[in-house]
Amino acid sequence: MTDRVIAAAGAEDDAQYDAGLRPRTLNEYIGQDRVRDNLTVSIAAARGRGEALDHVLVYGPPGLGKTTLAYVIGNEMGVPVRATAGPVIEKAGDLAAMLTNLQQHEVLFIDEIHRMAPAIEEILYPAMEDYELDIVIGQGPSARSVKVPLQKFTLIGATTRAGLLSAPLRARFGIVHRLDFYEERDIHEIVRRSARILDIPVDEDAGREIARRSRGTPRIANRLLRRVRDYAQVRADGRVTLDVANAALKLLEVDDHGFDEVDRKLLRTIIDKFSGGPVGVNSLAAAIHEEKDAIEDMYEPFLIQAGFLDRTPRGRVATARAYEYFGLQPPEKDSRLW
Ligand SMILES: Nc1ncnc2c1ncn2[C@@H]1O[C@H](COP(=O)(O)OP(=O)(O)O)[C@@H](O)[C@H]1O
Ligand SMILES: [Mg+2]
Repeated sequence: MTDRVIAAAGAEDDAQYDAGLRPRTLNEYIGQDRVRDNLTVSIAAARGRGEALDHVLVYGPPGLGKTTLAYVIGNEMGVPVRATAGPVIEKAGDLAAMLTNLQQHEVLFIDEIHRMAPAIEEILYPAMEDYELDIVIGQGPSARSVKVPLQKFTLIGATTRAGLLSAPLRARFGIVHRLDFYEERDIHEIVRRSARILDIPVDEDAGREIARRSRGTPRIANRLLRRVRDYAQVRADGRVTLDVANAALKLLEVDDHGFDEVDRKLLRTIIDKFSGGPVGVNSLAAAIHEEKDAIEDMYEPFLIQAGFLDRTPRGRVATARAYEYFGLQPPEKDSRLW
């Protein structure tokens, strides 16, 4: 996979900063107003009744704040968050151990929950629904099933692809929220907040410019801010002015729309090699040497939201905007799908 400064997936260098920049309360969590308002009510209600919060599923593209939200919820409920991830749970017993260790009302956070093995996932069904484990002891005719009671806990699942979740698992979440790409003003607010925390002097217009090119994604905004700060420190006097921001972003090859090489290659390939589409995601992945999952999780959601790419039943299609972006004439309307 191509290493890109605007990748929304977390890179290692993010980790040390993420901890400091992560909002800890719903008040600090910027944007996503609908999700925030709903959770405020759900949390207040659960606390008022002295109950565990209902199980929560959060889904949306990488870098939008799913993990952050899981910890915010734990914090607002006043309970610890035990975290794991779908792909790292290897044995059913590992998950069973985590579940039995949970204290009353605690949160179990399972990241990438769509990547859990089916046999392991099944353990969650009775755990979520009835707060009990069904454990089979022995084998063959003498095998018997034992029920082990669990404390009332909250499962928070996060996924980039809600569509890949099995129906029985999905049905057991009482609270389901989708995170959308952020409004530019919300990203700008996030840039201001991060600049304050990291003590970086950023001019108002420079902050807005960074926000504009961050693909509506907080993780990218924070990363661009740090790269621009490096530039300001080395090539200027440390202050992030609009000129400094523009020069730094140019050096990073992040363009006006927040597109980078991969985005341009993806769009250009659809236009040049597949006559604008429709092209299946597998063919597209092969043509640009990227993984299919990476295209579906990371690259295309923003291109679709920005109106440069369409997803049709027959495959991906470059829109008129994509042609115009490259200074090309869009093909005749009636021969195309849109
Ligand atoms: N609503 C928000 N307000 C402020 N910062 C945010 C918000 N959401 C995410 N962030 C920042 O973006 C980074 C990435 O968020 P994260 O929760 O790791 O995304 P995801 O789990 O969806 O990939 C976090 O470290 C945090 O600093
Ligand atoms: Mg995450």
